[in-house]
Amino acid sequence: MSSTNFTIYYGSLVNPETLTSYHAILHCLLAVNPHGNIEWVVRDVPDSMVQATLLEQGCPDAEVVELKDGQFLMPGFVDTHTHAPQVPNLGSGQQYELLEWLKNLTFPMEAKFRDTEFARRTYQSVVHRIINQGTTTCCYYGTLHLDATKELANIVYSLGQRAFVGKCNMDRNSEDYYIEPSWQSSINDTKALISHIQSFPPSPSGISLVKPILTPRFAITCTSPLLSSLGELAASDPSLHIQTHISENLAEIEFTKSLFPDQESYAAVYDHFGLLRDNTVLAHAVHLNKDEIELIAERKSGISHCPTSNFNLNSGVAPIGQYLDKGIKVGLGTDVSGGFSPSILSCIRNASIASKVVAMQNRGRNNHDHHLENGNALGHCKFADTQLSIATLLYLATLGGAEVCMLSDQVGSFVPGKSFDAIIVDVRDTAGNPAMWDFKADTHDLTGQDALRGMLQRFLFCGDDRNISDVFVQGRRIGGKA
Ligand code: GUN
Ligand code: FE
Repeated sequence: MSSTNFTIYYGSLVNPETLTSYHAILHCLLAVNPHGNIEWVVRDVPDSMVQATLLEQGCPDAEVVELKDGQFLMPGFVDTHTHAPQVPNLGSGQQYELLEWLKNLTFPMEAKFRDTEFARRTYQSVVHRIINQGTTTCCYYGTLHLDATKELANIVYSLGQRAFVGKCNMDRNSEDYYIEPSWQSSINDTKALISHIQSFPPSPSGISLVKPILTPRFAITCTSPLLSSLGELAASDPSLHIQTHISENLAEIEFTKSLFPDQESYAAVYDHFGLLRDNTVLAHAVHLNKDEIELIAERKSGISHCPTSNFNLNSGVAPIGQYLDKGIKVGLGTDVSGGFSPSILSCIRNASIASKVVAMQNRGRNNHDHHLENGNALGHCKFADTQLSIATLLYLATLGGAEVCMLSDQVGSFVPGKSFDAIIVDVRDTAGNPAMWDFKADTHDLTGQDALRGMLQRFLFCGDDRNISDVFVQGRRIGGKA
C-alpha cells in the first residue's frame, strides 16, 4: 500500500478507553490509509517533529490535515436506536405515554411511508440530518413497508453512513391502516429487505457499511407465529442482527404479559423465540426484573439506553449503572421521536441526568445491602447508584454503542486497524454556538490536557451540530458543518 495516499491528522484527540477512562492527547499524529482504516497513531509530537515523524513512518509526502486550537478529533457517535420515519414528529407528543403515543401520533405518521416517493424525499433529509449530528453508526427502524425501507437503506448506503436498517414486523395490535396482512407476508418482506441490503456492493475496503437487522417492533405487535419465524430466520444466520423494544412502560409490560401468559417475563418472551443473543439490541430496558437482567447478561444481548425518550414519554428511569455492574453491554439511543432530539449529545445529557435521578432516589438507602443485592459475581458495584462520569458517558456514546452493535473491533475508538469513523469537534467561538464560551477566554485557567478535557465536557453538555465540522465514516468525509 502506497503510504503517499495516507491522510494524516495532526492535533488534539479524545479517545475512549474503558468505561472509566479516556485519553485526552495533544499533538497527536493519526494516519488513515486509503481503505479508510487507521494505520498508526503517534502521541506527543511537537510541531518541530512532525516532518521527522512522517519520515520515520515512511510517508514524508502524505497530506497533513492540521487541526486548529479549539478543534479536536473524537470517534463518531453510535446511535443504537432510532426511528427514521418518526423524525417528522420530533417535538410533538410529550402529553402521551407510550401506547397512546403510538396510536395517536406515531402510527399515523409511519403509515404515510406507504407512499414510496414521500419516503424517499423524507429519508433523504432525515439521514443527512442524523449524519450531521455526528452519528457515524446508526441502528434504524423503518416502517412496516418494504419499498420505503429499501429507500431508507439505499439513502444510507449512498450517503456513506455505517448502519443497520430494519423493516418493522407488526401483524397485530395496530390500527387497520397500519398493519401487515399476515405473518407470512411480514417474513417474506423481511427476507426481501435482507436480500436487497446484502446485494449492495461493499466499500472499496471490502466492508459492508449497511447491514440488515431483524426488527420485530415489540412483542405486542407480533403474533407467536411471526416471532417464531423470525427466530428461525435468526437461527439460520447467526450473523444477522436483531433489534426490538423491551420493558419501556408499565402498561406495555402488563399488556405483553397478558398476550404471552405462558412466559415468565417480557425478556422470556423474546428468549423463548430465540431472539435474545449477542447481536440483539434491546431498547429501553427501564423496568427489568432481576431474572430478566440475569437472562440478558447470560445471552450477552446489548441494551440501548434511551433516556431522552424515557423522560419525554414518562416511561421511567433505566438503572443503567446496575446493568454496567452486571457486565451488560450498553449504548445510547436517541429513540426519535419518543426522544425529542436526533443528537447523541442530547442523549448524553439526559443519560447524565437519569443517572443523577437514580443516585438521588437511592441516596439514604442502605447502600451496603443494596450493593450486595445488585453487585456482579465479584461483588463489585462500580456504577449502580452513582452518577455516570464523563468517561462513562463518552464510552456509552462511542465504544459502548459499538459493542452493542458487535462492531467494537471496527469502530468506537482510535486504534490501528480500526476504521476511521470520526468527527472533528470545533469549540472555537467561530463555530457560532452562543452556548459555548470561547475556550481560550480568560475565565478558563485550564491548560494542556486539562483544557482538552474541559473542551470535551463543554462540547458534550453545551455543544450541538454547529460544533461538528466534519464527519468521517471509513475514512471518507460524509458530513459536518465545515
Ligand atoms: N415500542 C414500540 N414501538 C415503539 C416506538 O416506535 N417507539 C418507542 N419509544 N417505543 C416503541
Ligand atoms: Fe423506539
